[in-house]
Amino acid sequence: MKILTTVQEVREKVKEWQGAGLRVGLVPTMGYLHEGHASLINKACSQNDRVIVSDFVNPIQFGPGEDLDAYPRDIEHDRKIAQDAGADCIFHPNADEMYGPNFSSFVDMTGLTEELCGKRRPVHFRGVCTVVSKLFNIVTPDMAYFGEKDAQQLAVIRHMVQDLNFAVKIIGCPIIREADGLAKSSRNAYLTLEERRAATILHAALSGAEDAMRGGECQVAVITGMIRNTIESQPLARVDYIEIVDSKSVQSVSDITADVLIAIAVYIGKIRLIDNFTWKVQAGGI
Ligand code: PAJ
Repeated sequence: MKILTTVQEVREKVKEWQGAGLRVGLVPTMGYLHEGHASLINKACSQNDRVIVSDFVNPIQFGPGEDLDAYPRDIEHDRKIAQDAGADCIFHPNADEMYGPNFSSFVDMTGLTEELCGKRRPVHFRGVCTVVSKLFNIVTPDMAYFGEKDAQQLAVIRHMVQDLNFAVKIIGCPIIREADGLAKSSRNAYLTLEERRAATILHAALSGAEDAMRGGECQVAVITGMIRNTIESQPLARVDYIEIVDSKSVQSVSDITADVLIAIAVYIGKIRLIDNFTWKVQAGGI
């Protein structure tokens, strides 16, 4: 499978496909692909004639002191996973190709990006919106695929597409987990064996909350307290945030009367992991 490294090559390839009336899907990633990414590629292949996976560790979405330099990279591993999942090509530019020396235009969003992860990572969503906008302009996909693992990112991208009239349909895909419940993530590769065992506490805490909600608990303070107690029972874990927000507005709520997103960020040692689930009031659960 071909790895394209320049904007020009991608434009030519997509022009050829779209000229032939083919539908093009895009799966944006930062590489080090795993089954979570593969599930997005599978879905894209089922709904499009051609699928491009972008594989680019986007420097502008990392803040100072974050893990940009350490972020795992392995393009040959990615080529195999993308190919096995059915992708047609990978777009793997270097940072100069995406951000030339005079680069100074950014896509910024207020409101939604200031909650949850945005409160703790102030430049993050500006970087995500900018790179995803560039990818939409370069690839001009009919459909683009994002994981519910990054629930706030998915909401931000949907909002941006609506605000800025991008002609792309956004498809959200469910979280893929390890057998013990840990959400698959490229960052799991950083964990030591002991930390990897401790990391199951995120899913355990969310499952406990879900059970309580199924049992009728609807006070946010009680549910948040339960999640915190479970996480704090694990010595290697430290809570960054536990938030229960309205799933549409992403604003905090005190009682659960409408659909909510239960989102957590937890440090396991030095590694920050996120997880979430959506509680649908009508359905009485997920
Ligand atoms: P990355 O972390 O590589 O994730 C790429 C896509 O895979 C995202 O849409 C993410 O939600 C999805 N994904 C990751 N783990 C998943 C899992 N366990 N189950 C389902 N989907 C999963 O998110 C980014 O890259 C970047 O911010 C990006 C959008 C590419 C912009 O740089």
